[in-house]
Amino acid sequence: MRVIVCNDYDEMSRKAAKLVASQIVLKPDCVLGLATGSTPIGLYDNLAQMNKRGEIDFSEVTTFNLDEYYPISPDNEQSYRYFMEHHLFNRVNINKNRTHIPDGTTKDPESECAKYERMIEESGGIDLQILGIGQNGHIGFNEPDNNLNTVTHLTNLTENTIEANSRFFEKKSDVPTRALTMGISSILKSRKIILLASGRTKHKVVRELLNDGINTSVPATMLKVHPDVVLICDKEAYSDMYLGVDIGGTSVKFGVIDGFNNIVFKDSIPTHKDMPAKGIVDNIAAQCLKIAQRFPISSIGVGTPGIIDFDTKTVSATNLPFDKAPVALWLKEATGLNVYINNDANCAALGEAVAGEGAGENDIFMITLGTGIGGGIIIDKKIYTGKHGDAGEIGHMCIETDGLPCACGNRGCWEKYASVSALIAQTEAAAEANKDSILANVIKDDCVVDGKTVFKAMNMGCPVAQKVFDKYIDYLAIGVRNIINIFRPGLVVISGGISEAGDRLLKPLIQKVGSDTPIKISRLQNDAGIIGAATLGKNAK
Ligand code: PGA
Repeated sequence: MRVIVCNDYDEMSRKAAKLVASQIVLKPDCVLGLATGSTPIGLYDNLAQMNKRGEIDFSEVTTFNLDEYYPISPDNEQSYRYFMEHHLFNRVNINKNRTHIPDGTTKDPESECAKYERMIEESGGIDLQILGIGQNGHIGFNEPDNNLNTVTHLTNLTENTIEANSRFFEKKSDVPTRALTMGISSILKSRKIILLASGRTKHKVVRELLNDGINTSVPATMLKVHPDVVLICDKEAYSDMYLGVDIGGTSVKFGVIDGFNNIVFKDSIPTHKDMPAKGIVDNIAAQCLKIAQRFPISSIGVGTPGIIDFDTKTVSATNLPFDKAPVALWLKEATGLNVYINNDANCAALGEAVAGEGAGENDIFMITLGTGIGGGIIIDKKIYTGKHGDAGEIGHMCIETDGLPCACGNRGCWEKYASVSALIAQTEAAAEANKDSILANVIKDDCVVDGKTVFKAMNMGCPVAQKVFDKYIDYLAIGVRNIINIFRPGLVVISGGISEAGDRLLKPLIQKVGSDTPIKISRLQNDAGIIGAATLGKNAK
């Protein structure tokens, strides 16, 4: 089975229409097998437009539809005859006498089915069959069963199909419980088959189709014996989804990513760090379960502050009540899903490496400038944690002997000079020493000093602010240069709130570092953490 994965429903419909159109161009009197349901509507729209533009001619085309409810009259709006007239036949130059749909009004379903089968044969057989797929794996109305009927027959619809199709009816009890449908071998006799699948509700069955063996409980798997089947589906139907959880001091962010690293859903809850560790994790688990009800989640990846002991899989963090907390185990027990965990800065680096600025690089080093300085090392697109799980603590590399004391017990740590907290302290000190400066006045007016203050004063031409910033860049550059000298990565990525300054930070930094190793600002910013966390699960597959 060939698989074409499209970005979305529209692209899927266009691609399918092109294949059908080439069939008609190559053989103007071809026999098409047609399907109903919501999936092929876009395909029929495209075909109608192509016909209108004169690109394809339906005048000699013969069609056989897969199925029809039973009993139902053709003028009932829910009948497949009505559907086909409305979505295709009335919009193209087809000869209606050449369009065939099982007769839902027949008094003798058995001979109607035999007649239908015979007519397909007498037409020369189906050149190209279009199929949708039911959530339960049915094709046509060939429902999962121990024994699949091979030829056109009357069948009972399963509860799952009645439920799925009830969206087209006023109430569920209006859905017919039986249908006339082509059988599995009627379908397999077609020379070519296009199977369409779109949207999240089809993801599970597409996975079963692609991964499982031939099985009558998923009738579509029978298509695997056919030599010319193409599955055209959109990303939502095709790709697995992974949940990424980024635990922060104030909020926990959640993101669902598809197999192509697109975020398809985002959410967040407060962290409640006054609660005990188990309470925090229970809240996170409840949210994960809610999300897993809406999306086909394969696994959960978690980025957490602090240090992870990868032997015991426990987390210890200073700004959260995690003291050897078995976060991953608790989450796995509560959700039943596999849970993967790593440090939040590492996850952000991984996210940037797979879906952000680092997408073209195998080895990147991410520096997060905030209250402290975090580091994430990615080697060969994987997080490097070191033997004890805490590699990358670059905020604590010494850049000044006998320098400022740090909470870690040492002196002269880089984060005491180049973090955003350090920049704020340097800004305050300069304003204090230069009370008449523009910088001091900006602080007086704003009543607050943050990472943006120095930029604001520089904009107003303040030489004191410029000096603070130049010195800050010196400090920042020392650390970046050290990192490049040790790791020589393909790329250094700067993230954290101050990176919003963009080129004003980057240009002087690049100049000061003076290396040919590219330095860039994080493209994903706050999303890097959830994408990286979700990627932990994806990479573990
Ligand atoms: P749908 O139905 O296109 O409405 O999802 C497909 C099917 O049941 O075959």
